[in-house]
Amino acid sequence: MENLDDLQNELVAAVNAAATLGAIEEIRISALGRKGRVTSLMKGLGALAPDERRAAGQSLNVVKSVVTDALESRRDALSEAELDAALARDRVDITLTARPENEGRLHPISQTIDEIIAIFGEMGFALAEGPDIEDDFHNFTALNIPPEHPARQMHDTFYLPEQPDGTRKLLRTHTSSVQIRTMQNCEPPLRIIVPGRAFRCDSDMTHTPMFHQVEGLIVDKTVHMGHLKGCLIEFCRAYFETPNVPVRFRPSFFPFTEPSAEVDIGCSRSGGTLKIGEGDDWLEILGCGMVHPKVLDACGIDSTEYQGFAFGMGIERIAMLKYGMPDLRTFFDADMPWLRHYGFAPLEVATLLRGLTP
Ligand code: PHE
Repeated sequence: MENLDDLQNELVAAVNAAATLGAIEEIRISALGRKGRVTSLMKGLGALAPDERRAAGQSLNVVKSVVTDALESRRDALSEAELDAALARDRVDITLTARPENEGRLHPISQTIDEIIAIFGEMGFALAEGPDIEDDFHNFTALNIPPEHPARQMHDTFYLPEQPDGTRKLLRTHTSSVQIRTMQNCEPPLRIIVPGRAFRCDSDMTHTPMFHQVEGLIVDKTVHMGHLKGCLIEFCRAYFETPNVPVRFRPSFFPFTEPSAEVDIGCSRSGGTLKIGEGDDWLEILGCGMVHPKVLDACGIDSTEYQGFAFGMGIERIAMLKYGMPDLRTFFDADMPWLRHYGFAPLEVATLLRGLTP
C-alpha cells in the first residue's frame, strides 16, 4: 500500500490550493468518489491478513476524515468568499442621486393607472378614492347584493375579526364600494374614476389575493347606454393605441347594474402570440352597465330623476394584454430584473397629446 501520510499530505495540499468550488468537487471525487484513490485503497483491505487489515483500515479512516474535514473547511471559506463577492458586486448605493443610467423604473401598474387617468381625465372624469377596509353596506348591501349572494361567502371575501357590536369589516372585493361613497357624499351630476386595490381570497396563475381595479361612474339626468358604449369604445382605442380595435358588448349580469354587459376586445391568438386589434378571437376586459335604480336609492339619489352608468376593469389584466406579460404573479415579486425589463421611465408622463407610452 502506498504511504498514507504522503497521500494525506498531498490531498490536503491540493484541497487548500483549490480556487473554486468546482475544483474542490473534482478533488473530492478523485479521492473519495466511487473510484477515488482513498476509496480504492479501502476496497483493497479485504485482501489483507486480518490484523494488517485492522491497522490499515484505521489509518485509512484517519486519512478519509482528515481529507473530508479539509474539503469542508475549504468549501466553507470559498462559499463565503463567493457570497462576499456577489454582495459587493450587487451592492446598491442608496445615497447616490438618480442618474439616467441607473434610475428607478415605474411599475407597470403605476404606468397603466397613469394612462387610464390620462384618457378618462381628457373625457372630464375626476379622480376619487375610498378605503381598502370597508363595511358590508358599502361593499355589498348598497350595491344590491343581498346577504345570500355568493360573492359574500367566506371563500371570496377577507373578513376582519368581529367587532364588539357583532359586525365585521372586510377588505373591499371591488372598487364599486367607492361608487356608493361618492354618491352618498357628492351631489350629482357625477363623473369619476377610481383606481385602487381590491382583495379576494384566490391565488393561481390568473388570480392574486390583492389586485387593482379601476371603477368608473357617471350619474346625470340623461345619460344612457349609448354614452356608456361610446365612452368605453373610445377608452379601448386610446388605451390600446389601435384606432380600429374591435369592441363587443355582451349581455351579462351584475346585481348593481341593469342592464349589464361585459366588454370584449378583438384579438388573434394564432401562432401562440396574442395580438390585440386583429383576428377573430375575443378577450373579456371589463364589466359595465346602467346603475341599478336600487343603488341610486340606497345612496339617497332620486332614481326617477337621475340615472347613470358604471364600469369596472382589472388593471393587471389590461396591463398584461398591452405589454405582453404572461404571468400575473410576477407583478408582485418585486424582482429588479423584471422591473427593469417591464418598468417605465419615471419622468415620461403619460398624456394623450404626447402619446401614452414613452
Ligand atoms: N365590480 C364588478 C367586478 O368587480 C365590475 C363592475 C363594476 C361591473 C361596475 C359593472 C359595473 O367584477
